[in-house]
Amino acid sequence: PSLDEIVNLHDFEAIAKAILSPKAWAYYSSAIWFRPRILRDVSVVDWSTTILGQRSSLPVYISATALGKLGHPDGELNLTRAAGKHGVIQMIPTLASCAFDEIVDAAVPGQVQFLQLYVNRDREITRKYVQHAEKRGVKGLFITVDAPQLGRREKDMRMKFVGDSGVAKVQENQSGIRKDEGVARAISSFIDPSLSWKDIPWFRSITNMPIVLKGVATPEDALMAYDYGLAGIVLSNHGGRQLDTARSGVENLMEVVAALKTRGPWPNPKFEVFVDGGVRRASDVLKAIALGASAVGVGRAFMYSFCAYGQEGVEKAFEIIRDELMMNMRLLGARTIDELSPEMVDANALHSH
Ligand code: FNR
Repeated sequence: PSLDEIVNLHDFEAIAKAILSPKAWAYYSSAIWFRPRILRDVSVVDWSTTILGQRSSLPVYISATALGKLGHPDGELNLTRAAGKHGVIQMIPTLASCAFDEIVDAAVPGQVQFLQLYVNRDREITRKYVQHAEKRGVKGLFITVDAPQLGRREKDMRMKFVGDSGVAKVQENQSGIRKDEGVARAISSFIDPSLSWKDIPWFRSITNMPIVLKGVATPEDALMAYDYGLAGIVLSNHGGRQLDTARSGVENLMEVVAALKTRGPWPNPKFEVFVDGGVRRASDVLKAIALGASAVGVGRAFMYSFCAYGQEGVEKAFEIIRDELMMNMRLLGARTIDELSPEMVDANALHSH
């Protein structure tokens, strides 16, 4: 195409890929390679693990994505039902378009769910919400800390807030919702930008659930989370939706794990590091775990899987990940999640450009 036909920078990427040699493209576009081990009897491989002490059939959990009903009439329940059938852990979003209790009621006995929390300016609303979740059996609290203000979602802003958009349930739970902006801004206007480390002891005082900070991006903050006695962190840039050009979770992983090792041996049973962002393949998952993560969050891929196919789409997504895990673990020479180690990846190129 001529330069006139280039509309945005993604267009350049597609063209670069088409004209570059495979070697040049691989160098530009990827940064972590596997170092597989051979002859290890991989007839039986097991990719199940524990996440915050809870059994999980996959080393992957469903990350919170708001407003599931924009994609399918059953919204978040597609995820709940598929997760219940497959032993996968779902993180319930504060901005779910189904009522919180509806999502918990859709779980089968023993099914593990976590709660993603946006903290309300009115702490009484937040206290009640968290304590209700704990009473209903939720097993972990993920406080989102990378969204004191929602990023400018430019496409969304052009749409404005029209009709219900599945927002009614959010309004029921969290007051202070505005209707004169895009959906993202409108439903997030209750979020408290004054949230700070000083609030952490309060959260610990209102719940016995393990508390994880979602959206940590530096070793400095990882160490603070550790020193505040929290149960873990999610290294994430919120799918690139918040601070423009923030580094991705996996890019921060090695530095963060190196910093945490100064506090004691790694992995540390008292503190878990999760990663999310752009995960579409079991190979992505295995690389993050080899570098020290205990599990990986997947948001968009699961959300997209229910848009056309409902619950069955989500189940298919789990099955694809499971099959890829089996194949990749065999080819890598890792029989269990515990056998994944930093020596199995070459991440030297990650910070060399
Ligand atoms: C999100 N994410 C998100 N995170 C959160 O803590 N609360 C939320 O309400 C939402 N909502 C949300 C909506 C949509 C449409 C997207 C794409 C993402 C962020 C999400 O949990 C995760 O951190 C990122 O999406 C990165 O993972 P994926 O999507 O690349 O797998």
